[in-house]
Amino acid sequence: MDLKNSTIEDCKIIDLPKINNRAGNITSIHSNIDIPFNIKRVYYLYDIPGGENRGGHAHKKLHQLIVATSGGFDVIVDDGKNKKTIPLNRPYIGLIIIPGIWRELTNFSSGSVCLVLASSLYNENDYIRNYFDFLNIKKHE
Ligand code: TYD
Repeated sequence: MDLKNSTIEDCKIIDLPKINNRAGNITSIHSNIDIPFNIKRVYYLYDIPGGENRGGHAHKKLHQLIVATSGGFDVIVDDGKNKKTIPLNRPYIGLIIIPGIWRELTNFSSGSVCLVLASSLYNENDYIRNYFDFLNIKKHE
């Protein structure tokens, strides 16, 4: 699925492995096994002030898994045609976002942490930050 043809239906919610333990749980995520890409970078968003939004861009090649490891937030995914809001609020549920999907993260609960596993190193050239540019790319299918 490429940048132009990807749709929000390709952004799958996946159940991550959960090891239940009386003393607390563990979720481990294996590159190319639990998720369909090789992990090259991990980052997390935290200390997000109330009412703030994050995201507001699409990627050309990057694949990501987003997990609410603490608290919760909403992810709005948009393929230029359809949009949907996906609430994330469990550390064992992840959302796969593929290239060519505009995403916004909103409604962060207090103290929430957004973990992101990414398929490549940070590269500003991989971002589409202008929504009209995004719509233009998506309509030339
Ligand atoms: P951005 O991806 O736009 O943030 P978000 O989608 O969470 O709102 O990144 C915000 C800034 O942080 C941007 O100037 C680049 C920098 N940044 C890095 O240096 N490395 C990274 O891995 C990420 C994700 C961002």
